[in-house]
Amino acid sequence: MKDTITRDEAWALIEEHGCSANHVKHMLAVEAAMRAYARRLGEDEDLWGAIGLAHDFDYDRYPDEHPYSGGRILAEKGYSQEIVNAVLSHGETGVARATPMAKALHAVDELTGLLVAVTLVRPSKDIREVKIKSVRKKWNDKAFAAKVDREEIERAAADLGVELWEHVAIVLAAMQGIASDIGLDGSLAAQQAS
Ligand SMILES: [Fe+2]
Repeated sequence: MKDTITRDEAWALIEEHGCSANHVKHMLAVEAAMRAYARRLGEDEDLWGAIGLAHDFDYDRYPDEHPYSGGRILAEKGYSQEIVNAVLSHGETGVARATPMAKALHAVDELTGLLVAVTLVRPSKDIREVKIKSVRKKWNDKAFAAKVDREEIERAAADLGVELWEHVAIVLAAMQGIASDIGLDGSLAAQQAS
């Protein structure tokens, strides 16, 4: 049984299952946020990062079975129950979020989407210029990125034991650190202008 997963293995899963470029960016954002949390909590940064990078690998291939198919494939490959359950429990599958890793994955997943949306409405499309204040404004504007369930993010942060706006700050800083990898470094605005 494999009780850890490496970054290379996470990439192999992504490549085997033909993930879209956009989805890969999402998973890179989640990876960065998971690494930040592992560092903060004194946990295994490489493991948490790889789980973040892999967590949606099955989504494009099996959209109707996600994340059950992901859990099944990981189990078939011999990964531990902790790894399988972390991936299964990030969605609403009824699988308990029993570990800090599972709680963190759930808490950062949807928030990264909101932070991408907040970035993309800025003329610069550069996440490094996004301030907590602008996230707060959009957070309270329920029509903005209406599909993002604010209450669920709040519950998930509480379950992880982090105050909501501290949580937002941690995930935002993590994404700012990989701005170019996720295409939020202003290059999109530059392309549109040319
Ligand atoms: Fe996700």
